[in-house]
Amino acid sequence: MVIAYQPAIFDRNSRQHLFVEFILRPGTDAALLRQALAQVASANRAGVKQVLAFGPALCERLGIDVSFADFSLDGVVPATQADLFLWLQGDHRSDLFDTAMQCRDKLDGFFSVQLEQDGFVYHDMRDLTGFVDGIGNPEGDKALNAALVPEGQPGAGGSFVFAQLWRHDLAAFNQLSVAEQENVFGRTKADAIEFDDERMPADAHVGRTDTDHDGVPQKIWRRSVPWGNSSQHGLYFLAFSCEVERFDFLLRRMYGLTEDGIRDQLTRFSAPQTGSYWYAPTQQILAGLA
Ligand code: HEM
Repeated sequence: MVIAYQPAIFDRNSRQHLFVEFILRPGTDAALLRQALAQVASANRAGVKQVLAFGPALCERLGIDVSFADFSLDGVVPATQADLFLWLQGDHRSDLFDTAMQCRDKLDGFFSVQLEQDGFVYHDMRDLTGFVDGIGNPEGDKALNAALVPEGQPGAGGSFVFAQLWRHDLAAFNQLSVAEQENVFGRTKADAIEFDDERMPADAHVGRTDTDHDGVPQKIWRRSVPWGNSSQHGLYFLAFSCEVERFDFLLRRMYGLTEDGIRDQLTRFSAPQTGSYWYAPTQQILAGLA
């Protein structure tokens, strides 16, 4: 049997996004809960692609064979672990709105909403700082290897997910010269060319996140998109990995919590407001909920 991941994880064609994080209500009936999730998982809606993922407690409740802890970074950044993650993608906000309403109709008896955030693709896949985001992602089989749990391991074919809403201080960032901004990221701004090793500042974002751990490259598959308006704005960071520990390690590198103690310059201009880990199950697991 071919294990099928949720295809929208890798589908980068949509410009509009909606992220909903839900908390499981206490005392829900297990069979009815499964039924509601199965209905949401199996619905086929024109113009909308979706990914569903579950937090640690919901995985346990549903008897899914993966085990991972709630998101935490030793209290250094906010941890807001929730239970259910719904990610909708499409080209029209109207379609996402309609779909979100239909999902809420099925889910409201079982879950309350903790966060609902829309996002959008900004120009040619740039973060609101003006830097292209996602260009350093692995490609082809390398993307699948980075994002999907390998065969033979619990949760094989699924993916661990990290979602974290960041708020930017663009007023501060935009005071930097373009050369200084490029040093924050470690790539050029206009054409997104990565600095070579000699030019890469140790505290540049790419300098912190393009890294190995015990000899293993810490590659992840990122699908973040910007959110907000002219008053409040940032990035809804969203990434997929074959192992949940990669997120923790990368974030530790960004916050100077690894041996070299170097902190990512990016954290001077943007701050996380939330943080949750999830497991995005295979289509077989979702089909088995019914
Ligand atoms: C405000 C939040 C963030 C912004 C604006 C941001 C933006 C960027 C940009 C512009 C790049 C370079 C282009 C690219 O490689 O796609 C990049 C690379 C990367 N970022 Fe972030 N990022 C953020 C948070 C994070 C977090 C929280 C993590 C991990 C926990 C992370 C992991 C990575 C990785 C792994 C790379 C690729 C490094 C490589 O070249 O291999 N980023 N990010």
